[in-house]
Amino acid sequence: MPPRLTVGRKGKVKKQNQDCNRASQDNYDKMCKWAADYIAAKIRAHKEDRPFVLGLPTGSSPIGVYRELVRMNQAGELSFKNVVTFNMDEYVGLPHEHDQSYWYFMHDNLFDHLVDMRPENINILNGMAEDPEAECARYEEKITSYGGIDLFMGGIGVDGHLAFNEPYTSLSSRTGLRNLTTDTIIVNSRFFGNDPAKVPTQALSVGIGTVTDAKEVLVLISGHNKARALAATVEGGVSQKWTCSALQLHNAAIIACDEAACGELTVDTYKYFLDIEKAERL
Ligand code: GLP
Repeated sequence: MPPRLTVGRKGKVKKQNQDCNRASQDNYDKMCKWAADYIAAKIRAHKEDRPFVLGLPTGSSPIGVYRELVRMNQAGELSFKNVVTFNMDEYVGLPHEHDQSYWYFMHDNLFDHLVDMRPENINILNGMAEDPEAECARYEEKITSYGGIDLFMGGIGVDGHLAFNEPYTSLSSRTGLRNLTTDTIIVNSRFFGNDPAKVPTQALSVGIGTVTDAKEVLVLISGHNKARALAATVEGGVSQKWTCSALQLHNAAIIACDEAACGELTVDTYKYFLDIEKAERL
């Protein structure tokens, strides 16, 4: 059965029993608002005894989502008291205080602005760990100790990498050390004064298997430069070449995207999304 893909222009929260959704929004801001509303609804609806476990990405894509989550939290509309977070990845060799470390990014864009986030509930891989393998094993064990991740939000690279799982990373990979490809180093050099030599060459990253073990996965795909990756994610075969394509095998994966990212989808696929949305409105 092909993945079920849904366009959610009105930001409607989707049913849970579908294979794969797409929530297409006109532009970046709407995409972020849709995703933030979705996450907030999940956190609020969480009634279990244990905390809500949220996986989080870095990059430009989630910034608008974090802004909206912070707004809701500061307005008293959403509490993070019962939320535990696990970040996707971290560069090797960058200390916390480096302004391009993902630790710094997360505190700068989200954690420092939340009024009730417990610091002990924040989990970010330590890229300075003396024993990276032990650090990654510890991370996996900690995720397991919470009963797994409820919702993993992610972004993807232009080459379709999910977290730092570059092309040809095993689709069943677990948290581990990754070598960054030249493509990624060049793309990410925009944050390092446009100098690829300044970009770390390695990272610690959750695996594709770690992400797809989450009960739900929500991936943000925005902009023309991600159009090929979005097409590979939903239209191509499941392949190590595009590690994001592993989402097709997930039972509750949602892709929140904007119109610009849809540029490489076939008209058929695009119409299919619209059809499904229409059907859902009935
Ligand atoms: C980095 C991160 C990924 C992220 C990707 C896309 O490589 N490791 O987790 O998804 O960038 O970033 P952006 O959202 O800035 O395009």
